[in-house]
Amino acid sequence: MVLPRPATEAAIEAAAALIRDGRIVAFPTETVYGLGADATKAIAVARVFAAKMRPRFNPLIIHVPNLDHAARLVQVDARARLLAEKFWPGALSLVLPRRADCSVELLASAGLETLAVRAPDHAVAQALLTVCARPIAAPSANRSGEVSPTTAAHVAAGLGEEVDQILDGGACSIGLESTILDLTRDPPEILRHGGISDEALSAVVGPLAFDTAEDTRPRSPGRLSRHYATGLALRTNATEVRSGEALLSFGRHAVTGADAELNLSPAGDLTEAAANLFAMLRDLDRPEYTGIAAVSVPDVGIGRAINDRLRRAAALKTTGNRDNV
Ligand code: TXA
Ligand code: MG
Repeated sequence: MVLPRPATEAAIEAAAALIRDGRIVAFPTETVYGLGADATKAIAVARVFAAKMRPRFNPLIIHVPNLDHAARLVQVDARARLLAEKFWPGALSLVLPRRADCSVELLASAGLETLAVRAPDHAVAQALLTVCARPIAAPSANRSGEVSPTTAAHVAAGLGEEVDQILDGGACSIGLESTILDLTRDPPEILRHGGISDEALSAVVGPLAFDTAEDTRPRSPGRLSRHYATGLALRTNATEVRSGEALLSFGRHAVTGADAELNLSPAGDLTEAAANLFAMLRDLDRPEYTGIAAVSVPDVGIGRAINDRLRRAAALKTTGNRDNV
């Protein structure tokens, strides 16, 4: 059990070193406490999903110190620049297209070609980002389905066994998550109400649209699901491979005869498997194969999110929903 540690300079340096080493650290922001990981390391991001026990891979908010850093990851347009100048650092997350050279792992955005980026307005978060010098992927530091934590004690009560460190920076001043604004839509669309009001935002960028989905759900399934598709047909629960298929396997297994095989985790480690999932699906998604046969992984912990992701990819192909791909 990890106990909160006052966020002194030394504690922040230790936390930054842990994050750079692929570990997960809870830290305060002005909205709620975040569970942070190096967004450029798939294994670190997988640990965040495993700790939260999310049944599926929701995209995470990527924390940066300021707009300049955000501009290294996403394509910043004029509206984004105006909004960031007015509201950053602050409780506003902006959804923007990834840059082609974006260093953030696909797992952090659950395979999406967009990223939600935010510069938090909290001295501890800012210091951590600066010392760490990495974009930090951080969902709220609570277990899936529980209330977001606004004190270090809340984090310890919920995730004290899972995190590598908890930086205590006192109670969050806002206590409510950031507003999420999708700037890839026209008009821009509010995906989640939060710390910055709709009125304040529309004063800068004009009329807004509203997504009606609940905040913890990905936006409408149609829109999200296209990012879950592979170009090739994908079968789940495979127990054998058919002619020309590539195999996505897990652990030790007895399936033979694949044209190509990638193993999510030869050692049978589900967190490692999650870290490899998106990259391996992309690697196998090549026209020289007739399809991808994916074994199922144990349906426990983060394994449920892996199976969910595989099932979605398979379902999309069977419904022939190629428009969305
Ligand atoms: O205030 C906050 O935003 C806190 C602190 C820690 O910064 N973070 C937070 O993260 O609330 P989380 O993971 O609990 O909520 C992230 C939300 C999810 O509902 C997710 O669907 C949405 O952001 N999201 C993230 N990336 C997205 C993207 N590329 N497109 C659409 N929605 C996205
Ligand atoms: Mg949350």
